[in-house]
Amino acid sequence: RTVVAGGTVVTPATTEPADVLVEDGVVVAVVAPGGAGPAWAGAERIDAAGLLVLPGGVDVHTHLDAVFRGTVRTADDFETGTAAAVAGGTTTIVDFCRPEAGEPLAAALAGWRERAAAQRPWADYGAHVILVQPDAAALDELDALPGLGVSSIKMYMAYPGRMMSDDGAILRAMQRAAELGLLVLVHAENGHAIDVLVDEALAAGHVEPEWHGRTRPPLTEAEAVHRAATLARMAGARLYVVHVSSAAALAEVERARSAGAAVHAETCSHYLVLDESMLEGRPRELAAGLVCSPPARSASDRERLWQALADGGLEVLSSDHCPFALHGQKIVDEDFTHIMNGLPGVEQRLLIAYQGVAEGRYPLERMVEAVSARPAELAGLAPRKGAIRAGADADLVLLDPAARTVFSARTHHSAADYLPYEGMAVAGAVRRVLLRGRTVVADGELVSDGRSGRYLPRTPAPAAAHPQLEEIGETR
Ligand code: URP
Ligand code: ZN
Ligand code: ZN
Ligand code: ZN
Repeated sequence: RTVVAGGTVVTPATTEPADVLVEDGVVVAVVAPGGAGPAWAGAERIDAAGLLVLPGGVDVHTHLDAVFRGTVRTADDFETGTAAAVAGGTTTIVDFCRPEAGEPLAAALAGWRERAAAQRPWADYGAHVILVQPDAAALDELDALPGLGVSSIKMYMAYPGRMMSDDGAILRAMQRAAELGLLVLVHAENGHAIDVLVDEALAAGHVEPEWHGRTRPPLTEAEAVHRAATLARMAGARLYVVHVSSAAALAEVERARSAGAAVHAETCSHYLVLDESMLEGRPRELAAGLVCSPPARSASDRERLWQALADGGLEVLSSDHCPFALHGQKIVDEDFTHIMNGLPGVEQRLLIAYQGVAEGRYPLERMVEAVSARPAELAGLAPRKGAIRAGADADLVLLDPAARTVFSARTHHSAADYLPYEGMAVAGAVRRVLLRGRTVVADGELVSDGRSGRYLPRTPAPAAAHPQLEEIGETR
C-alpha cells in the first residue's frame, strides 16, 4: 500500500490538492489531503508536496526495435526505448507489429510479444498491427485481432513499393475494421505524388537534406488526409490520422468531421517545436538529424497545431519516436532520399507538452487529456490507463513545475547518439514515476530494478455495420 501525499492531482476534468491511495498496483481512491484514514497509517508514503501528480503518459506512436528499408533497425529496442519513455514520464506505449509478407498475423504477434518481453521493457506496451497491401487472406485474418488484444491497424499511403497500400486495399481493410470495431491508423502522405517531386528535385541537382521536406509539401499530406477520410466514410470506419503536421492537413480532418465522419487525429511533439527553417543553411549532418515524414513545416503551421491541441481539433500528442543514430544509421552523406525518416522524442514528449502549459497555450487539464487520457481511450486502454481514478493502474508522474529541464543527448536514455532538441530548455522536471504502483524513476533517474513492463491487451470499439451503397450515395 502506498499513499502519494500532498501533491496536486491533475485529471482531464480537475486540478486539485489530493492524496492518491494505491494498493496492489491500482488506484483505490483519490481523497482530500490527509484524508486517507487510519487504515492507511502503515502505508508507504510518497511525499508529493509542491509537485503535480499526473497520470502516466500514454504514447500510442513509437517504433522500437523496428527494421526500415529492409536493413536498418531503429537505435532503440524495447529496453532503451522504454527506459527513455519512463524517464520522460511515459508509462505506456503502443508500438507496431509488422508481419512479414505472407506471415500469419497471430504468429507475427506472438513473435512480437516474445521479442518485446525478452527485452524486459520499463513501460507497459501494446501493438498496432501494420498492414501492407493486404490480400483477401490477410483481411480474413483481421477477425482474430480482437481476440489477441489488438484494437487497431495501421496503413500507409506513403512509401510506394515499401509500405504503401493502394486505395482499394485501404477501403477493404477499413470495411473489415468497421465490422470488428478496429481503429484504422493512417500515415497520410501521397506517396506517388511525392515520388514525382523527388524525381524533379534530383534531376535539378538538389540533394541536400532540406529537399526532403520541399518534396513533401503540405498539399501531399492534405490530399491524403482527405482521401483517407473519404474512404473511412465509405467504410463507416473510425479513422485515426497519425502525425498531422500542417494546417492544410488539419483543415481536411476538420472538414471530414463536420461531414459526420469519425476522424481522430494526433500531432507529434516535434511538429510543435521544430520548423523547416531549422534545416536551412545548417551543416548537412544537423539538418539530416531533423528529417522525418511528414517533414517539419512552417512556423505558422506550428502555431496552428498548438491551437488545435488547445481546442481539441487535435486530440492526441504522440512522439512518433523512431530514432536512428546519426553515425552509422541515419545516412547523411548521400542525397536526401537515403536519409532514414524519423526522430527520437519519446522522452521529451511530456515536457514539450508541459512547456505549452507554461507558455499559456492551453490548460494543464487539456495537456493531460492529450498526452494520457485521450490516447488511452482511442487505443482501447481506458479505463485502465490514462487517468487517476479508482480502479485504474497506479501509473503516476510527479512533475516539479518549479524546475527546468535542458534536453541533451548526453543525458537522455535513448540509444540515439543525438537529439533534435539538443540544448532546448523547457519548464518542469520529471521527479518520480510509478508504474502500477511501483517506483521506476526516483529523483529523476531510473531505479535499478524497475523493468517490469507488461503486454497490454486492448479492447476494440463496438462493431459497426458498414454503410450500404444507398447510404454512401446520399452522403454529401
Ligand atoms: O519519419 C517517420 N515518421 N518515421 C517513422 C516511419 C513512418 O511511420 O513514417
Ligand atoms: Zn508515419
Ligand atoms: Zn511513425
Ligand atoms: Zn558527425
